[in-house]
Amino acid sequence: MTETVVFETHNDIAVIRIDNPPVNALSQSVRQGLLDSVSQLDENDKLTAAVLICSGRTFIAGADISEFGKEPLQPHLPDVLRAIGQCKKPIVAAMHGTVLGGGFETALACDYRVSFPNTKVGLPEVKLGLIPGAFGTQLLPRLAGVKTALDMVTSGRQVLVDSELGQTLVDEVILGSGYDELLEGALNFAQRIAGQTNQRRWLADVVLEKEPDHEAVFAAYKQKMAKKKRGLIAAQHCVQSVENAVVLPFEQGAAEERRLFMECRESSQSQAMRHAFFAERKCAKVDGLDTSASALPVKQVGVIGAGTMGVGIAMCFAQAGMPVTLLEVDQDRVNAGLEKIQSNYERSVARGRITEEQSAAYYGRVRGTCNYDDLADVDLVIEAAFESMEVKNQIFSTLDKVCKPDTIFATNTSYLDIDAIATVTNRQDKVLGMHFFSPAHIMKLLEIVRAEQVSDQTLVTAIDVARKIGKVAVTVGVCYGFVGNRMYARYGAEAQNLLLEGATPELVDAAIREWGMAMGPFEVIDLTGLDIGYKARKHQPNLPDDPTYFALSTVFVEAGRLGQKSGSGFYSYGSGSKQPDQEAINLIRDTATKLGVKQIESDAREIQNRLIGALVDEGRAILKEGIAQQASDIDVIWLNGYGFPRHRGGPMWYGDEAG
Ligand code: 3HC
Repeated sequence: MTETVVFETHNDIAVIRIDNPPVNALSQSVRQGLLDSVSQLDENDKLTAAVLICSGRTFIAGADISEFGKEPLQPHLPDVLRAIGQCKKPIVAAMHGTVLGGGFETALACDYRVSFPNTKVGLPEVKLGLIPGAFGTQLLPRLAGVKTALDMVTSGRQVLVDSELGQTLVDEVILGSGYDELLEGALNFAQRIAGQTNQRRWLADVVLEKEPDHEAVFAAYKQKMAKKKRGLIAAQHCVQSVENAVVLPFEQGAAEERRLFMECRESSQSQAMRHAFFAERKCAKVDGLDTSASALPVKQVGVIGAGTMGVGIAMCFAQAGMPVTLLEVDQDRVNAGLEKIQSNYERSVARGRITEEQSAAYYGRVRGTCNYDDLADVDLVIEAAFESMEVKNQIFSTLDKVCKPDTIFATNTSYLDIDAIATVTNRQDKVLGMHFFSPAHIMKLLEIVRAEQVSDQTLVTAIDVARKIGKVAVTVGVCYGFVGNRMYARYGAEAQNLLLEGATPELVDAAIREWGMAMGPFEVIDLTGLDIGYKARKHQPNLPDDPTYFALSTVFVEAGRLGQKSGSGFYSYGSGSKQPDQEAINLIRDTATKLGVKQIESDAREIQNRLIGALVDEGRAILKEGIAQQASDIDVIWLNGYGFPRHRGGPMWYGDEAG
């Protein structure tokens, strides 16, 4: 048919096979091949049915995202899927892997769906700032009901076929694995249905009735999206389009879906989210790294320090199936760390995120110790101890003596010089930074800090480990704060300048939240504690020569206002919830007077421009110094570690867009 679609026959059943690595995306040649195959199936009287199957690791994983943003090429996917739906002979989609977006829409356009139990299906378009654009919002409600369709389309989540919901989305589960077994099962199924009457099942023919709670359900979803996916046009369009499936005839609903899809596709939001998708894949390819160096096996891990970070890091590994030894200086601290892990898992069970069995298995993989000798055989140690050079040097020189020669040492330091830490060991090629973000077991980001002497094999191993524990890893160079925290410091300093100039914490936080950041800078600093940056700045050799630089943090810490943990910071927390605080405002104004800062009025737009502008500017400096290898890496860091709105693409993408 085309170079990516093969049309074969097995007796009276046609096999339409797509072979478009890596994920069988619906590129132009696939769409053309599918259309030609359907014509051939229709025209050949000897053929009674067809199986649509894919080579390689997955059934179609969606439209070809790299084609978006270019001149659309014919045939368009809805035309291809309409041809599949209206073909005179039944077509069976034989699914494996991840059947996503246009891939799942293709399967929905087929008359039947069979799959392996471990197949996952979903409509993740909303994560790219899109809505399903080839009948997904029209066909899925007709197959699975409106509520399921709303959930799947607005969340973009993948549903496992071997689940209560998943089983309702397929006609037959085929046991086995591999192409041949899937094909054999699908051919048997096709043979069976080919002999039946009424074997055609184009879902578009199903007429949906309005449920009694129709209005309430859709209004609630629109509200939920306004809160959960604040500012994202596609989320609202997803709800609207599913509603159209109920209130409009199929062809009208489909035309409206296409219009909303095209509007999203051309939007700056979707462009930014598509950029984010590719940026997250590009960052795995590290400049100058010899990828022929194979990753060392990491079977056991040691974590030093059972504070908030150490506990979260230990949980990451335990959840990924790796035994973890958690070391603290005394038994009380070991016990406190273990209790924290246990209570975190209990909370996850209570919220229905994990089962009792998973909780027990994860917790069972962590053991506590105060004895360094227990780390002798681990393959990787991550140090998450107190942020002091002296403490770190002592830990690393001890580790160097007790651990086997090929153990890799990583530090979770946020600011300290990793090259200097490495020099206290006799294995500088095995020392690097693995900088997690709090809460470490939840946040996706991991900055892998490429120390001066680290070997390619150590770096490849760290990247491999990051993948195994489900992190988005970005490799960065050594500097104070690396990429994320260095930029955050610049942003935080600018936010404090705004206060000195006359703004209030509420005004700044509200303006930046309205822009799309998950939290305001003063909400964040009150949550994490003002003392952390205060202490870090005390050890920073090259503070800017500017008396206003974090002057407010210094004044607040010295007044005992450390944030939520002390009951007050930029806000007060006396009643448990965050309240504006006049005392904080008085301190801000007094400091501004002492420093002679001119008072000016800033509106929300000015605040947003100043804060995001500061980020972009620092990002540029980081790029120029080669601390980040490419602008998109900086975006990945901010999208995954700092609550930067995905539909704005990250600071560097936004900076380019804004000119
Ligand atoms: N289009 C183009 N390229 C794609 C792609 C797509 N839909 N999906 C994946 N790729 C590329 C990736 O960029 C990567 O390329 P690289 O090797 O050059 O970096 C390669 O395929 C492998 O991808 P991953 O590294 O992500 O491989 P994984 O095995 O980890 O994940 C996956 C596979 C789950 C399929 C994941 O790639 C994914 O989620 N893809 C996107 C799925 C999606 O969003 N589909 C909907 C698209 S929009 C749509 O269909 C619109 C329709 O409604 C009209």
